[in-house]
Amino acid sequence: MNFDHRKYSPFAPIAKRDRRWPDQVITQAPGWCAVDLRDGNQALIKPMGVSQKQRLFDLLVKLGFKEIEIGFPAASQPDFDFCRKLIDENRIPEDVTIQVLTQARPELIERTYEALEGAKRAVVHVYNSTSTVQREKVFRMDREGIKEIAINGARIVKAHADKRPDTAWTFQYSPESFTGTELDFAVEVIDAVNDIWRPDQGQPVVINLPATVEMATPNVFADQVEWICDHMKYRQHVRISVHTHNDRGCGVAAAELAVMAGADRVEGTLMGNGERTGNMDLVTMAMNLYSQGVDPRLDLSGMREITEVVEACTEISTHPRHPYAGELVFTAFSGSHQDAIRKCLSSYQEGDAWNIAYLPIDPRDLGRRYEEVVRINSQSGKGGVAYVLERDFGISLPRWLQIEFSKVVQNAAETEGGEVDSHTIHRLFHERYLHVQPDWALRTYDLHRDDAGVQAFVEFGTGEGVSRLSGTGHGAVEVVAAALEVRHGIQLAVEAYDEFALSEGTQANALACIRIQINGKPYSAAALAEDTTSATLQALLSAVGSCVGAHAPQTGVSSGVH
Ligand code: KIV
Ligand code: ZN
Repeated sequence: MNFDHRKYSPFAPIAKRDRRWPDQVITQAPGWCAVDLRDGNQALIKPMGVSQKQRLFDLLVKLGFKEIEIGFPAASQPDFDFCRKLIDENRIPEDVTIQVLTQARPELIERTYEALEGAKRAVVHVYNSTSTVQREKVFRMDREGIKEIAINGARIVKAHADKRPDTAWTFQYSPESFTGTELDFAVEVIDAVNDIWRPDQGQPVVINLPATVEMATPNVFADQVEWICDHMKYRQHVRISVHTHNDRGCGVAAAELAVMAGADRVEGTLMGNGERTGNMDLVTMAMNLYSQGVDPRLDLSGMREITEVVEACTEISTHPRHPYAGELVFTAFSGSHQDAIRKCLSSYQEGDAWNIAYLPIDPRDLGRRYEEVVRINSQSGKGGVAYVLERDFGISLPRWLQIEFSKVVQNAAETEGGEVDSHTIHRLFHERYLHVQPDWALRTYDLHRDDAGVQAFVEFGTGEGVSRLSGTGHGAVEVVAAALEVRHGIQLAVEAYDEFALSEGTQANALACIRIQINGKPYSAAALAEDTTSATLQALLSAVGSCVGAHAPQTGVSSGVH
């Protein structure tokens, strides 16, 4: 029996009575640092080459990232080469700072500075592992030994920087595996590092708290971050950064709560690429802020380009349900959702505050179109089908026909077993309702109103089979229906008919839809014509034709109501 939860222990809650973060609201974006080119790259089956890194770097710059971790130059030749290329070819914009990672080991730090030679600005990010499990099982060292690695690393980082005063250096330290580190020890190491770097004396410092492995609920991480902020020395002189991973699926939530708990800066990757379940997804977190009316200070409006570049560089495709970026995230298949979206969108005016059911943001903000919002499969209802016909073909249906036609579409979807596109919906509508049998095609009509009512004359059919109907009644439909009853020996009752003027740009000007009963059985039809009377008469003829058959059995003149 392998599947045994008793193998695991719960994460001990942080004993914190004074937590303030739950009452905080994020009102401005944190500083962002994209680590796609380092953490993201280290997790790829096929790490990026220099040209792919350049492409992704250019995208990150275009999106507005001001700090970009470009690699681990001491550990990888392509990372070293890429760092040199950026510096030698002067490819780093004035307002962007590159960041590189190194372990706290003398030879790696030295090589890192070689990679950065001549840079105008850079963040040197040094780390060592501090967690209990790493201390005891990986490094087999006590707290002092681990702290010594950090202190030594901090000293060497500073010494190399001191030798290169032409570069504006920022130092960053990460107690790697912070989430598994006792808080008192984490703060001891952080303070020891800062005692060497002295952020209070002007050295820019970032202290980065990584959830290298996400081990608990996001509130626990927020407690850890707030605790560190409250207990560390030099708090007001350093930027606190967080770097969350997504092992429990809460990487974004943990980073958001960490910002509420005092973090100034967030590291992550586009689309959350990274080790195991990935890093915190920058797209999701930035768009979450955007959806709350907070400027994310990133321009994610070209979401298609973002996913294209990320996919090309990482060779990982974007999940269709990926928040904000996936192909299906603004699409509703369910009938009730479609209905609600359609109703909200129909009353939405440009400039209104966004308040549309089922759509947390306006898809157009990310370069998506409303056309993609409603897509039809067997789960879709009348609202969606009607919406597609109206949106793509300018055809609006009365409610009774929406209900009826959606069943036609549903049958087609069930038979085909997938999505029914808008052209198929249009074709189905044509075949089922608009098709005119030649013998039932309206040729001409004449209406004359006087004291006796409406005198109507209608001619339909082709060639030899031309039929004529005439009579007097309250209206054309009544007269023609009565004449058809007489002619075909049927009982005909008109249940509903609706006429619509069509939107500009369509060939016909009017659409009429009719539902009749012939001898107690329902028949429906619709017709497009240049005027509403023609459309209504044609719809009536088509509906009767669909019952009586392809050939009008009699020609000659028949009279209706007199
Ligand atoms: O996840 C992690 O801990 C890291 C560090 C090197 C910051 O990537
Ligand atoms: Zn990481």
